[in-house]
Amino acid sequence: MPINPTHGQMTTINVIGHNTVRLDSVDSTNNYAAKQINQTFVPEGTVILADNQTAGKGQPGNSWHSIPGKNLTFSLILRPTFLLANDQFLISMAVSIGIREGIYAELGIWIDIKWPNDLFHNNKKIGGILIENQISGKSISSSIVGIGLNVNQRNLPVTNNANSLANICGEELDLEQILDSILSKINAYYLQLVGGGRMSVKTRYLQSLLLYKQIGWYRKGDKSFAGSIVDVSDNGQLVIKLESGELTKFNFQEIKFLL
Ligand code: BTN
Repeated sequence: MPINPTHGQMTTINVIGHNTVRLDSVDSTNNYAAKQINQTFVPEGTVILADNQTAGKGQPGNSWHSIPGKNLTFSLILRPTFLLANDQFLISMAVSIGIREGIYAELGIWIDIKWPNDLFHNNKKIGGILIENQISGKSISSSIVGIGLNVNQRNLPVTNNANSLANICGEELDLEQILDSILSKINAYYLQLVGGGRMSVKTRYLQSLLLYKQIGWYRKGDKSFAGSIVDVSDNGQLVIKLESGELTKFNFQEIKFLL
């Protein structure tokens, strides 16, 4: 733990969440963050939070819909220049376990991380993460970490297999408290990465994965197969041990979980 030089006491450094920009409405907090970092100096750890997104972005090919004022939709601006472009999945791991533990600290609920970084509870999606990195040479110059979390929205499209934290807890929840708890845990795991604690971040991520070391069913193209998740490669590929014992790596969006 770092020493506070003025008081000589042990303290934690808050990189993430010391500067927050609150917007009533924006197309996408990720787009807003990208424009900001290209136009002006934005301190690392700045949070861009919006009540409403008119064109929220999801994982490639998807949009992100959220009822205004009900949920958390925000982006974090990071400058993980200490990471090589090849190591960018570490950000995804640190952020997803931070969200998981922030939710647990505030609400006492454990969510699962569905590889690579979907937030699930009882096989229903309650949130997602969209990370957009800018690469400079071999390093990551900036990272925009977009997080969408269904908190107080009670009615969710059935077709999306989605749920919200309020539905799970059975009551209206405090958005600010959940946000603070999540930011503080992401901060802690980000600092672990800064300090070189990559293995502990990865170990915790693997332990938080839905179906880690359990037999699950997956589909690739028109074929279904069973296997168990045993690892994630440095560049974020999912490593599944097939029933034959063979280890196979899969890229993002190459396989579908059959939940
Ligand atoms: C996913 O599809 O699972 C990722 C969803 C990410 C949504 C968040 S909401 C805040 C940020 N701004 C966006 O436009 N998208 C991300």
